[in-house]
Amino acid sequence: MRGKFITLEGPEGSGKSTQAKMLIRRLADCGIEAVYTREPGGTALGEEIRNILQHNQAGEAPCERAELLLFEASRNQLIEKVIRPNLEKGVWVICDRFMDSTAAYQGYGRGLPVNEIEAINRFTVNKVVPDLTLLLDLEVAAGFKRIAQRYLALGETADRFEQEDRSFHERVRAGYLKLAEKEPERFRIINAAQEPDAVAVSIWDTVNDVVRQSI
Ligand SMILES: Nc1ncnc2c1ncn2[C@@H]1O[C@H](COP(=O)(O)OP(=O)(O)OP(=O)(O)O)[C@@H](O)[C@H]1O
Ligand SMILES: [Mg+2]
Repeated sequence: MRGKFITLEGPEGSGKSTQAKMLIRRLADCGIEAVYTREPGGTALGEEIRNILQHNQAGEAPCERAELLLFEASRNQLIEKVIRPNLEKGVWVICDRFMDSTAAYQGYGRGLPVNEIEAINRFTVNKVVPDLTLLLDLEVAAGFKRIAQRYLALGETADRFEQEDRSFHERVRAGYLKLAEKEPERFRIINAAQEPDAVAVSIWDTVNDVVRQSI
């Protein structure tokens, strides 16, 4: 049986990476094999693109549409090399950000036309669409507070997106909520302001609810 494809979306610091890993452990406890992957990146080529996108590795910031297409290139590589083959083997794929990030950040955030982005996304994903998208919703300020703690803990510095102003991130958050409203079948909104364990319980209940027949 084909594996399930679950994506985690949401603003900066909403807990996507934390929850993706917790979900994989929970699935493993039920005997379900699941792989973690992330966007941009997840393949050798994709990680190179990630460095260009997040840390200006090329020394020249990409123009808006170039930025979008770099994300799409990384995404298609990830689909063909990692996501599709695992799903076909029956392995579940948990992806930390996916196509909705492009609609939220480049569309609602930067102001590129969302309907055109959705058309490019359809071309890129080539029919590999998430079975479930968990939108971890959190106030922008709360997410940045968490990220500041992560910087202290890990010695990281802000990437190009995290350096955008507050209004950019407010548009991203509101954009995500609009995307969820447009596709209520695929999206579930999770209150990410709770403690990590409580968020994990909400996610687990949702996964059971939406893809119950497979657990
Ligand atoms: N529910 C939570 N409550 C409080 N802190 C949390 C919670 N979930 C995660 N954190 C902490 O907040 C920080 C951000 O979490 P995480 O890296 O999982 O978020 P993210 O959504 O993946 O962020 P990014 O958008 O930067 O990739 C981490 O230091 C993490 O330990
Ligand atoms: Mg993360």
